[in-house]
Amino acid sequence: MTPVGVGVVGAGNISTQYLTNLATYPDVRVVAVGDLDTERAATQAEAFGVSCHGGVEAVLTHPDVQVVVNLTVPAAHVELSTRAVRAGRHVWSEKPLGLDRAAARALLDEAAAAGVRVCCAPDTVLGPGVQASLRALAAGEVGPPLAALAILQGPGPDAWHPSPEFFYRAGGGPVFDMGPYYLTALVCGLGPVVQVVAAGGRAREVRPILAGPRAGEEMDVEVPTTANVLLRHAGGASSVCLFSFDSGLARSGVLEFQGVEGTVVVPDPNDFGGTVATHVGGELARAVDIAPAGRGRGIGVIDLVRSLAAGTRPRADGELAYHVLDVMLAVEESIASGLPVNVASVPPIPEPLPDDWNPLVAAT
Ligand SMILES: NC(=O)c1ccc[n+]([C@@H]2O[C@H](COP(=O)([O-])OP(=O)(O)OC[C@H]3O[C@@H](n4cnc5c(N)ncnc54)[C@H](O)[C@@H]3O)[C@@H](O)[C@H]2O)c1
Repeated sequence: MTPVGVGVVGAGNISTQYLTNLATYPDVRVVAVGDLDTERAATQAEAFGVSCHGGVEAVLTHPDVQVVVNLTVPAAHVELSTRAVRAGRHVWSEKPLGLDRAAARALLDEAAAAGVRVCCAPDTVLGPGVQASLRALAAGEVGPPLAALAILQGPGPDAWHPSPEFFYRAGGGPVFDMGPYYLTALVCGLGPVVQVVAAGGRAREVRPILAGPRAGEEMDVEVPTTANVLLRHAGGASSVCLFSFDSGLARSGVLEFQGVEGTVVVPDPNDFGGTVATHVGGELARAVDIAPAGRGRGIGVIDLVRSLAAGTRPRADGELAYHVLDVMLAVEESIASGLPVNVASVPPIPEPLPDDWNPLVAAT
């Protein structure tokens, strides 16, 4: 397969992981880096040996860019992805797909009409740890799925991120920022969500920035920072989730699928590897340590370009991300109203990746 040209827009914090990993995947080649802050784009492009850098247009008009990797902040995701679609490019977007249903729907409809794909993070769900767990579940290792548990709690990303405001604006909070890792895995394991019941709130209206040169500045909190969530899935299974940036206890990566005969403990869905453990009758039945082995942020781009070559639907498809967005909005709506909220979207549920899927070896 001739390497597919990739243009990265958004040269901030997470771009280093993407640029590092994409350089190791032979099916793609990063040919341009852009950012509103062109100096930041230049710094990242130079660090990773990418010759073209500049603003957004430098990426969208580059003749070799076939896939735009959108690493901007959540509030800019739909606008930038739509510009890329209008430029005839396929899109890999960081999560969330967007902030509201109408704009995200319009983006996906426009992409479908233009014959280009929009895919969306998280691609941790395509990592070998979560995938092995999903294969165990699909193979019936713990019997028919009944329920799931997810926990992400801690003091919030303001402890380490130098510009954490976006975590506390629309599109942020623990539900929108971390929820996609857990919710995407839950939907892949238990099927579409049909109803959400949630309660929660926020511990503080204003929080201080704690790290970096702006430490001490204050920022407004505009979203719920604690959510207790019950999800009903279409097949009859249910999930319970706790998402919180208000907790004094840092505990994350808790994700368990409970079948009628046992429980699969999934590695942290925000990581690519980890231990997959199966428990039966209160005893550990099997535990397998799975190394990420070079899989990291960017493998969703590889699934996208391979799907384009094969004419198949990518696994981290925009419709799956739209459903997760629909669920996250339902969580906020249920918190605000105190009522259950039905979820209408029905996403395609991707088949687990084969055990030998490898982004480090070129697809033939
Ligand atoms: N930081 C992480 O650990 C992490 C992990 C996983 C996913 N993400 C996701 O990645 C995305 C980016 O996060 P980050 O931490 O790198 O943020 P960041 O603030 O460090 O970087 C975002 C970059 O996007 C640029 N940008 C913003 N709007 C733009 C626009 N309209 N056009 C062009 N450039 C624009 C900014 O100038 C900035 O350089 C977010 O969606 C976040 O949820 C972040």
